[in-house]
Amino acid sequence: MRTVWSFHIAHSIVFGRDAVKQLGEIATRMRAKKALIVTDAILEKAGLLERVRQPLLAAGLTVDAFTGGEPEPSMRAGLACYEQAKTFQPDLLIGLGGGSNMDLAKLAATLLKHGGGPRDYVGDDKIPGPVFPLICIPTTAGTGSEVSAATVITDNENHIKVGILSNWLRPTVAVVDPLMTVSCPPKVTADSGIDALTHAIEAFTAIDNADFPLPEGERTVYQGKHPMGDLCAERAITLIGKYLCRAVKDGSDLEAREGMALAALLAGMAFSNVGVALVHAMEYPVGGAVHCSHGVGNGLLLPYVMRFNLSAKVKAFAEIAALLGENVTGLTERAAAEKAIAAVEKLRADIGIPQRLRDLGVKQEQLRGLAEKTFGIKRILRVNPRSVTVEEIEGIFQEAL
Ligand SMILES: NC(=O)c1ccc[n+]([C@@H]2O[C@H](COP(=O)([O-])OP(=O)(O)OC[C@H]3O[C@@H](n4cnc5c(N)ncnc54)[C@H](O)[C@@H]3O)[C@@H](O)[C@H]2O)c1
Ligand SMILES: [Zn+2]
Repeated sequence: MRTVWSFHIAHSIVFGRDAVKQLGEIATRMRAKKALIVTDAILEKAGLLERVRQPLLAAGLTVDAFTGGEPEPSMRAGLACYEQAKTFQPDLLIGLGGGSNMDLAKLAATLLKHGGGPRDYVGDDKIPGPVFPLICIPTTAGTGSEVSAATVITDNENHIKVGILSNWLRPTVAVVDPLMTVSCPPKVTADSGIDALTHAIEAFTAIDNADFPLPEGERTVYQGKHPMGDLCAERAITLIGKYLCRAVKDGSDLEAREGMALAALLAGMAFSNVGVALVHAMEYPVGGAVHCSHGVGNGLLLPYVMRFNLSAKVKAFAEIAALLGENVTGLTERAAAEKAIAAVEKLRADIGIPQRLRDLGVKQEQLRGLAEKTFGIKRILRVNPRSVTVEEIEGIFQEAL
């Protein structure tokens, strides 16, 4: 029986309204002189790039920006960013954006330090040592990439999203400024917010650390459910229950934005140590096939997978219902657990996430292939509290169709 667990995050986290104003000081403490900001044209237009550039210039740094970021980024975008970095020769990378841009920056930080191509690092623990100095600044409240050990890249040739997982990928500093999320449109707020909920729920209901089925000789950053993961996931679920709807309905609600920024950070701290599970494994091929956002795919699939997993973790699901604000007094554990699913279904509807895969363009004839691709993502499936066959995965896809 396993009795040891560990917990890893970014080296430092700087959190709060106007935290980006401290970037000059932070970069100087890192002894940086030349920073490359990795972002996209939308965020440049929204003025966020300028808000990051200014304090760096004021501190005397030379600054350049790569603005070729894209949602669900391709390996091609990663290589373009790497090329610009090689020409500019920065001593600091700054990932500015949602998960997509932060992941591009993390990929570039890997390539700049260790060379090679993106495919060399796909999988678990393939990065041989520390990556390039990196600050991440989230502009969505969702992925937790600012503290996580993951980079998710779309492999266009194989129509699937692939993950690079390594504790070396955790940024040096996460600067989480809720004001950077205020311009986030309602759909991006909803999609990224329910992704954070999926991270917290998958971590909180993961297989226990003591039972984590890691084959002899394999290494992974995921460890199964453990006390620090629970602490972060519980708080994240409560905050999301309280604030996600408010942030979607009124993007200028700063209390809600701040609550969601903290929730996404905590959910990132939880899942990146404990693991994500069947929802994420099913979303990767769906996202690769129909090009929906990661959050929409997860949010859609979440209650279906919760129903499948319920019998393996009744107590944890009952606790989730209470954390989401449901009244569970007097209910049996099973009835309370069912309420967690209903609460997520209601939240999903309230924020406008579709309920059926066919709404995303998935076709009946694709289900078997999607199930087979899901079944191949073993590093995630072993985190799931229930082991699952290809037929069962196909069955869940069928229910969700
Ligand atoms: N590395 C990890 O740990 C991790 C975890 C979960 C998901 N992901 C990945 O992250 C990606 C999704 O990231 P995301 O949900 O944060 O969305 P995103 O980064 O894909 O952004 C979606 C769109 O919203 C725009 N946007 C973002 N912030 C904005 C703001 N403040 N104002 C205006 N527009 C804004 C972006 O320009 C982009 O066009 C996926 O590729 C997913 O697989 C990574
Ligand atoms: Zn996710």
